[in-house]
Amino acid sequence: MVHAIITGTGSALPPRRVANDELATRLDTSNAWIRERTGIAARRIADPGTTTGDLATEAAARALEAAGLEASAIDLVVLATATPDRTFPATAARVQARLGITRGPAFDIAAVCSGFVYALTVADSLLRSGQGSRALVIGAETFSRLLDWDDRATAVLFGDGAGAVVLEARETPAGASPRGILAARLHADGRHEELLYVDGGPGSTGTVGKLRMAGREVFRHAVHNLAGVVDELLAATGLPIAAIDWVIPHQANLRIIEATARKLGLPMTRVVVTVDEHANTSAASVPLALDAAVRDGRIRPGDLCLLEAMGGGFTWGALLLRM
Ligand code: UT7
Repeated sequence: MVHAIITGTGSALPPRRVANDELATRLDTSNAWIRERTGIAARRIADPGTTTGDLATEAAARALEAAGLEASAIDLVVLATATPDRTFPATAARVQARLGITRGPAFDIAAVCSGFVYALTVADSLLRSGQGSRALVIGAETFSRLLDWDDRATAVLFGDGAGAVVLEARETPAGASPRGILAARLHADGRHEELLYVDGGPGSTGTVGKLRMAGREVFRHAVHNLAGVVDELLAATGLPIAAIDWVIPHQANLRIIEATARKLGLPMTRVVVTVDEHANTSAASVPLALDAAVRDGRIRPGDLCLLEAMGGGFTWGALLLRM
């Protein structure tokens, strides 16, 4: 059996850190409200000249370095984003070119905050079906460009950044317990579009849009859908929740992360949290959190990790992997 194993992780954050107090100078909000309701203390905001592709390229280069690979070894680039550099070409193709990769498919995935879980699942399927041996899977966003900076209900919640992994196909010898991606479940339900969307954007509307969200309703759906898809994934694999070493959740709101963990019976000591410093970076949030926990030594080879995310669409999903 072939499995797709993560052999390197990397991330990139813009240098400008914007603390809650800075936002409170121009919006009717406060550090106390943001901390209490979301767990966010600060976010990184990209400089005007920095694009999603810039952050993605930096994160990908770090993941390649961690994997000990040259870019030319990569057969496939999959990039999850809702903030591409241009309507086309795909930001994945721009990253591919900047890294000096000249072969193999490169494409973007648009599943907003669930994008990285979608992208990993797609890359895993392509590798296991023989379409190459090594993939770069990236989640990258500049969500600050989509924000209505006069809307306190959304402007305080998001940040910019990128995370990446190198995924390598490896044969698992008969009888050996597999490493890599073990199972994934993805969902979408487009009926809830009006609860979380951008009111314009590149493509058929010809307008530039801003993010709109009915936060309280999204919150309720998020906890329900995330706990549901994790239960579904565990049932499919026959693994108990106690077998999970680390949960790497989408980082939208600490209260969503805690409520989901409570519903699943998971102690917070096994959950990776970066929302305090990164805020919600959409498709970048899961790979950013994964890279942080790998680099600080919490996640070690052999650990069983559960990735989960939910976002605009609605889309949601969960993925189980052994590092
Ligand atoms: O990535 C996936 C998509 N996004 C999410 O998962 C986000 C999901 N939703 C949330 O995280 C939370 O619902 C929010 C953080 C957006 C809001 O927290 P909440 O506890 O659900 O607050 P609320 O929307 O019920 O608002 C409570 C009050 C309101 O005032 P009134 O109507 O009670 O007088 C808001 O106007 O808080 C007010 N409010 C604020 N006050 C200070 C909303 N935003 C702010 C703010 N500062 N930034």
